[in-house]
Amino acid sequence: MSGHNVWTHKGTFLLAAVGSAVGLGNLWRFPYLTGENGGGAFILIYALTIFAVGIPIFIAETMLGRTSRQSPIMGMRHLTKTHKTSRAWESIGWLGAAAAFLILSFYSVIAGWALHYTWLMLTGSLVGADATTISAGFDALLASPGLMTLYHTLFIAFSALIVGLGIHKGIESGLRIMMPALFAILIVVLIYGVINGDVGAAANFLFTFNIADLSLEGWLQAMGQSFFTLSLGMGAIMAYGAYMSSEASLTRTAIAVAFVDTAIAMVAGLAIFSLVFGAGLETDQGPGLMFVTLPLAFADMPFGALVGGVFFILVLGAAISSSISLIEPVAAFLVERFDMTRPQAVTIMVVAAWAMGLLTVVSFNVWAEGTIFHALFERSAFEFIELLTNIFMPLGGLMIALFAGWALTQSEVMKELGTNITWFKTWRLLVRFVGPAAVSFVFLRTIPQVEGYVVPTLGALLIVGVFALSQRLRKSA
Ligand code: TRP
Repeated sequence: MSGHNVWTHKGTFLLAAVGSAVGLGNLWRFPYLTGENGGGAFILIYALTIFAVGIPIFIAETMLGRTSRQSPIMGMRHLTKTHKTSRAWESIGWLGAAAAFLILSFYSVIAGWALHYTWLMLTGSLVGADATTISAGFDALLASPGLMTLYHTLFIAFSALIVGLGIHKGIESGLRIMMPALFAILIVVLIYGVINGDVGAAANFLFTFNIADLSLEGWLQAMGQSFFTLSLGMGAIMAYGAYMSSEASLTRTAIAVAFVDTAIAMVAGLAIFSLVFGAGLETDQGPGLMFVTLPLAFADMPFGALVGGVFFILVLGAAISSSISLIEPVAAFLVERFDMTRPQAVTIMVVAAWAMGLLTVVSFNVWAEGTIFHALFERSAFEFIELLTNIFMPLGGLMIALFAGWALTQSEVMKELGTNITWFKTWRLLVRFVGPAAVSFVFLRTIPQVEGYVVPTLGALLIVGVFALSQRLRKSA
């Protein structure tokens, strides 16, 4: 086995996992998807999947990483050998690598927008601006592929530098300050929203559950978002789990991550929608939501340029600690499998994701309509990539749950979980049946409506395949 190092401090994994979980998913994606999907119903499905499916699968994913102590692909290869199961389970690692690459490609472009706003804030360009000016400024950013590519390049290069130099394990001390600071500043924005916006309307929008409001694709987006926000189902948590100290509690860690992550998303959502309702903006304006509403608050609040500048710097920090967890699993694989140096491995991963990211860049301007993606899938390339990741992450999570639930032995799991038999049995019930059933349910319900006939056929085949594999597993176990 390669010389994998272990984070010696018990709390390091927790910090790294929170760093990975908290990011653009909480601040940018959660509010905008909630807005597009009518609010409460979306949040209900999102929260249910986080707690009933996400936490057990989070435990399963860290467990697979910690028992194998290798990168996801090599780790799964190792586990399929030691547990005499089909090699097909290695696809957990491959699917995860594909998802990491797709997510990083658009994640970096959106983080680039935060870079733009950091600049605008610190130079005081938006002080006193009104809603019309701010939206026009955002539209101008979207209209410029050159500027977006520049920011995208800067962000991805900086993330690559951190992982390439191997110093990401050292950014814990930074995270220890940044995460609470981010939370504090969100509270400041929320207070501003309570005073100057309409927090009642926001709470009403977010917490009135009317399940009939949710479109079928909304179900898929809600489930996808719950995996996305926890960094789940694609190997990032497995890769970090491989470095996790054997003493740390899997269950407590998973609950803590889910709790912090959800709290940040909720505060961000409340703050943003208070401003949206207060200023009479559209809830369903899409990916620009955070970038149009928050600057509006900073434009008007005392010391807004400074507060806004610090806020966007913290957003960038949160995005970087997430993007390095997207690079790490693939880079670790390339290092282990092909004996590359770290910088080489990171360069390959990042250059490919950078090139793919150009598709997201042009999705907001020159390729905003009339492309092959619109003809085939009725959406832009960016939206198509998001759809793919919404499928890949839960699918990966489903396979992780099945493997951890059926292939690992009771004594292995007991050793990893380190708890009593009751929680072991509950957890195993959750990963054997509840998680897989919930994910399959959402897939079966939504995918046929989303993409005509191609995707349901593929989806059914995949589910049957996974089921067949789990049967084989049982025989050989
Ligand atoms: N969870 C991060 C966010 O909310 C995004 C992210 C980082 C991610 N690593 C991941 C998503 C791995 C899926 C898988 O911003």
